[in-house]
Amino acid sequence: MTAEEITRYVVARAIWAPSVHNSQPWRFTADGGPRLSLHADTSRRLAAADPDGREMMISCGAALFGVRLALRSLGYVPETSVLPEPGQPTLVARVSWRKRADPDEFERRLASHLLTRRTHRGAFDPEPLVPDTLAALRAGAASEGAMLRIVADDGHRAALAAVIQAAEHQLRRDGERLRELARWTPAPGSTSPDGVPATSYPARPEHTEPDFPARDFARGHGWGLPPLSLATAHRAAGVAGLLTTAADRPADWVHAGQALQRILLTASACGAAVALHSQPLELPWLREFIRTQLSDGAHPHLVLRVGMVTQVSASVRRDPEDVLFPAGP
Ligand SMILES: Cc1cc2nc3c(=O)[nH]c(=O)nc-3n(C[C@H](O)[C@H](O)[C@H](O)COP(=O)(O)O)c2cc1C
Repeated sequence: MTAEEITRYVVARAIWAPSVHNSQPWRFTADGGPRLSLHADTSRRLAAADPDGREMMISCGAALFGVRLALRSLGYVPETSVLPEPGQPTLVARVSWRKRADPDEFERRLASHLLTRRTHRGAFDPEPLVPDTLAALRAGAASEGAMLRIVADDGHRAALAAVIQAAEHQLRRDGERLRELARWTPAPGSTSPDGVPATSYPARPEHTEPDFPARDFARGHGWGLPPLSLATAHRAAGVAGLLTTAADRPADWVHAGQALQRILLTASACGAAVALHSQPLELPWLREFIRTQLSDGAHPHLVLRVGMVTQVSASVRRDPEDVLFPAGP
């Protein structure tokens, strides 16, 4: 493959990273050589929900992990520098590839989930996780400079669920945030290549005990997927966890994003699915509550729930050609 072909292959996989509201806040530039740059597209930052751009940088970090993993799957060793230019805060990373080394079996397996992994929304089946799944997720987060804290204690789990309930209650009453959510929640049948489509969330909220409410993507329109079965019994909340970093600078947000995509792909490779909740992390006082009460002072970025479930949801992305540009002035 030429460097240009490699770039296109890598970008076509990196764009399937998760991003807040599927805003896909990234663009890539390449000069035809064995290197590319990943930029944050600030026009896609959520002005109301994400004024500091933290979720935007987490999303870009997730795409960066996809770049690295896709290169590994082709047998290249990526050399990555995160936020390489202090004067250019939207230049998230530069990645180059020259050296070769065969990918190992685990890298191949992770890469095979880049295009097919989907965010889960709702409850899980009662089936337990495959043994060692959680250990693999935690090790994956640590290897990217973040931490996945499993919230196993019943009291802490109930507190975490209550914080999400409080956040969701607040967000549903905030006009500015609701208008922003509307921008990223296209109606069924829309051909929009971004935002959260109605094919990716259940029409009927799936409650669990304790209850971790989903975002209200349908906003009262009744949009969403019909239930797979009418059975409501024995649906589980899954294993709850918090993704955290020791510090809270933009570089830490990019590390959190790389850790997130590694966690999600590792879960997929273990046959598990992951639900994400960032509602309380968008409200400073609830984020601070989680930091001091539930994550030992580490900075929280996302609440995750991991479990087993049959997934039918579908998502959308922009065309790789729409996010890849020639490098230049
Ligand atoms: C920083 C961040 C925050 C997110 N917050 C939520 C959330 O609160 N609720 C949710 O259902 N999904 C959340 N997601 C998942 C995105 O909505 C999802 O990645 C996007 O819609 C694309 O879908 P896919 O992951 O299935 O490809 C979040 C993702 C990121 C990166």
